[in-house]
Amino acid sequence: MFQFILALLLALALLAWGASAVVHTTAREWFERDVSSRARLVLTGAAQSLADAWNGDPKDLQKRLMDLTRDERVMGAAACDAEFKPRASTPGFPDDFNCWAVGTRVRAADSSGNSADRLQEWSTVANLPTGRVHLSVMPIRNQAQELGFAILLHDLSFIERREAQALTFLNIAFAVLALMALGVPLFAARWARYDWSLELRRLLRGGGTQKSPEFQPILSDVRELVGRMASEREDAPGQWTAERLKQNLNRYLHGERIIILANREPYIHKHTADGGIEVQHPASGLVTALEPVMRACSGVWVAHGSGDADRETVDSHDHVSVPPGEESYHIRRVWLSEEEQQGYYYGFSNEGLWPLCHVAHTRPLFRAEDWRQYLAVNQKFADAVSSEVDSKDPIILVQDYHFALAPAMIRKRLPSATVIAFWHIPWPNAEIMGICPWRNELLEGLLGSSIVGFHTQLHCNNFMDSVDRYLETRIDREHNAVVMRGHRTLIRPYPIALEWPVHWVETAPSPEECRAQVWRDLGLKPGALLGVGVDRLDYTKGIEERLLAVELLLERYPEFRGRFSFAQLAAPSRTKIARYRQLSETVELLAARINQRFGSEGYRPIILFRSHHEPPEVFRFFRAADLCYVSALHDGMNLVAKEFVAARTDLKGVLVLSEFTGAARELTEALIVNPYNLEASSDALAAALTMPLEEQRDRMRSMRPLLAQFNVYRWAGKMLMDASRLRSQERVAGRLAERSNVTPAI
Ligand code: F6P
Repeated sequence: MFQFILALLLALALLAWGASAVVHTTAREWFERDVSSRARLVLTGAAQSLADAWNGDPKDLQKRLMDLTRDERVMGAAACDAEFKPRASTPGFPDDFNCWAVGTRVRAADSSGNSADRLQEWSTVANLPTGRVHLSVMPIRNQAQELGFAILLHDLSFIERREAQALTFLNIAFAVLALMALGVPLFAARWARYDWSLELRRLLRGGGTQKSPEFQPILSDVRELVGRMASEREDAPGQWTAERLKQNLNRYLHGERIIILANREPYIHKHTADGGIEVQHPASGLVTALEPVMRACSGVWVAHGSGDADRETVDSHDHVSVPPGEESYHIRRVWLSEEEQQGYYYGFSNEGLWPLCHVAHTRPLFRAEDWRQYLAVNQKFADAVSSEVDSKDPIILVQDYHFALAPAMIRKRLPSATVIAFWHIPWPNAEIMGICPWRNELLEGLLGSSIVGFHTQLHCNNFMDSVDRYLETRIDREHNAVVMRGHRTLIRPYPIALEWPVHWVETAPSPEECRAQVWRDLGLKPGALLGVGVDRLDYTKGIEERLLAVELLLERYPEFRGRFSFAQLAAPSRTKIARYRQLSETVELLAARINQRFGSEGYRPIILFRSHHEPPEVFRFFRAADLCYVSALHDGMNLVAKEFVAARTDLKGVLVLSEFTGAARELTEALIVNPYNLEASSDALAAALTMPLEEQRDRMRSMRPLLAQFNVYRWAGKMLMDASRLRSQERVAGRLAERSNVTPAI
């Protein structure tokens, strides 16, 4: 028996070694050949279209080049004329391959290696500091006339990754086989008391006429897990789009419907004064980010039906299809009584958790009655979610501090569900969290999730510290996970982002037109300067500090008096809470005082709108203004800052941004300020108003690609890919445990 196993292991080792060698030598060649013929195909197909646009508007030529770079592995494309001068290129096309360098090589190398008079097709593989690339050159001709040539650059770094992943796969597969070779016969010999060697031989032969059920499920799971690891598409280069997110969902999560649970609904139906019904988009960062994801993935968004015409627009299952006219997913509305809203939303969520999590010096209020409502409403929503699922292992995205208890409640009803909880606001340190009388219940509720996400690593750390301090759990710091009563929860940072391109920007008038409209509406003089602030009327947004900084600017820089106005779009929010009503009054008084102090006939330094503005109006202001001031005193991310940058397709305008926002970690080319420091903030406003156009453009040029790359499809894609990996791992562990009859190791 021993000799047989040894021989078997030796044969497996030899086989693994041989297979690795084959992978190593042939994979690279195959992939490179594949990329080369693909590049040739793309360029041949596009040659006529490029020739047509060659002598026209360079922007049109650039657009056609950009069309060639849709494939995620294409790094860039460029067009050069016959004198080797650039005509157009896609953004970020590397300098290493300028027209001159490539052109001279192309002329120098015809098919027989001789110097060529006419431009030739040419391709090569080169090593850049960033990795291997494939360069393909195609002459562009208009009939007989040689116009120049097009370059297509492919990223080949994926080959090394594929190689490494394929090797990992092979090693795992051979290791599994080796383990089985050892374990199955021993097990069989010991417990089944029949000839193990005969059985093993039968298994290795493929079970004779029958397939081997003992091997099939585990191998197929291992194959799936390793196959997905091999693809690792979420880290592949290229931009994330709605389409790519959808493809990933289909491929790795088998087209599973997404269920979102969020208090705020993305479309609110309201009665209008003339008796009609209108649709309103709420002022909510959560909605801004998740709505495009839902449009891409489809599914159900479970939310509180808060509009006064909401009940009139749902069907008998309380569903309404949205977006209006597009209908790609539906909202399931949950109705709340006055008492439920008071206790769960205004009370526990917004008078308790909101001030607890934000360092904005408003004392949190924790009332037992509010807690009871919070608990009951979380259960009500968890039940609503459970009634919407159509499989035993759905994917459920639980959003924000309104639903800290829901993950555990959902897990109880759907043990195999993948629950991802995302906390959109900061998570305070353990000491502050300790203030909440129900901190343990909140933590346990969240730990019902498969993954808990925050915007920043700091908030992940704060969460883990809180768990460590208040609960009996095992903290796995190496993998950023918490294990509670055998259930493992990953804690991960996923900085939230915008769709790209932002559809409100796509449909907005040009920045010049926006500026003309806003100037007309506000009665601004031709040489005037405009700042803008867009927020819910919330004490965490630092609106008072913002107005005080504007006042100080006018005091310390008299040259802006009579010239600079600041438009504050402040959407009323949570008005049943005294602190919010008080803030609204303070802001109004402050604006009036500044206007009285520095205003004059036809000039208002502060233009305050205390009303809801729909996104097209907000983007009109963003595109018109000279600066946007985001002065939040504490904010998980703050998508207004990102929206302003996204709105500036003209690369003009300056973002002045509070250092206490998550966005400040990403938008480092903004003027970063401490909003409590009024003097420094007023200096930053002055610097923004006098910043040369070239510098404004440089800063925008640096921030905008970041928003394009790290967009919300990537945000959702990363979370869902982590969830999919987790599901595969759990399936493999579960099957192995089933086989060996032990609890999976966690
Ligand atoms: O994005 C942060 C956030 O608190 C969301 O959680 C919330 O939807 C939004 O701001 C607006 O608050 P509310 O839903 O209470 O109007």
